[in-house]
Amino acid sequence: MTLYKAKFSSFGSYAPAKVLTNQDLERMVDTTDEWIRTRTGMVERRIAADDEAASDLAYHAAVNAIEASTVKFKEIDLIIVATISGDHAFPSTACILQKRLGLKGMPAFDLAAGCTGFIYAVDVAKQFIETGAVKHALVVGVEVLSRVVNWEDRNTCVLFGDAAGAAVISRAEPGDISHIMGSLMDADGAHGEHLMQAAGGSRLPASQATIDANQHTIYMEGNRIFKHAVRSMYASSDALLKSSNLTGLDIDWVIPHQANTRIIEALANRMKVPMDKVIVNIQKYGNTSSATIPLAIDEAIRANMIRRGDIMLLTSFGAGLTWGSILARY
Ligand code: UT7
Repeated sequence: MTLYKAKFSSFGSYAPAKVLTNQDLERMVDTTDEWIRTRTGMVERRIAADDEAASDLAYHAAVNAIEASTVKFKEIDLIIVATISGDHAFPSTACILQKRLGLKGMPAFDLAAGCTGFIYAVDVAKQFIETGAVKHALVVGVEVLSRVVNWEDRNTCVLFGDAAGAAVISRAEPGDISHIMGSLMDADGAHGEHLMQAAGGSRLPASQATIDANQHTIYMEGNRIFKHAVRSMYASSDALLKSSNLTGLDIDWVIPHQANTRIIEALANRMKVPMDKVIVNIQKYGNTSSATIPLAIDEAIRANMIRRGDIMLLTSFGAGLTWGSILARY
């Protein structure tokens, strides 16, 4: 039952200091700056320091987000961390983050939906707020994928980077212009094997054989995923717009998952949205999975591009396979 509306109060982000450029990658695997730029749009990405894990990146993004809001740390009453590269198999990165933030007395859990993790987590937080169960949720998308890529596989190692993005999602007060207008989550487990980290769970526990076979690293059939990505991000964006009686013309900003500029351009083209309304920062960070969308929004807000009252469409696609979209007036 919907008693209240939810809104984005604020965003924050954090990217580690170390930069890995396409030229650096040319020295590591059989690739070229030209191939990476033209096939993906990526120029550089960030790599976590040896002593940085997911909760460390998440902590900085969370503090930035809370400090950018009027919400006090102690008013946060739900923590959701979207990640597939958390500190440990368990406990959850959300619980580690809760401790680091000095918070107690609220649920904290991780959510694994690959690159769609942030969209899923926002939708879950939105529903907690709409029912009145919580008033202020902290939602973080964080990945340290540099720890799970095969640095000898040029098909994947050039694509991913490390970062965190966070949002404070709050109950919208009467008279608030900001609110989350709609959301859509979807999944199709039938194609899950095209994008996975096979070992380390109960199906293939860690062993010398799984290490030798590189099964603890990301496996992706890029071409197949590419086609699914364009199709499903468009389908969910279109369905969400239609259910809100809006078209691409009504949107101020599209903030798509940053996996490939060719995917982003194909999506914008299908949606008939000009590229100057699409936030793209893939050239600086590569694909940071669940962190791409909050990182891109936070940068765009701080650059005064996205302003209060603007209509934003967030859309993503990832492992599972999963996809989804959020429509919100900021
Ligand atoms: O975030 C979660 C969802 N992920 C995505 O949405 C990623 C979706 N996929 C993609 O973005 C693209 O499929 C890739 C960027 C991963 C690959 O681009 P592509 O245009 O689909 O290339 P391809 O996989 O069809 O490979 C084309 C060629 C191959 O060579 P041959 O077999 O034609 O001789 C690859 O071996 O490009 C080669 N290749 C590379 N060459 C230089 C693959 N990776 C590299 C590389 N440098 N890093």
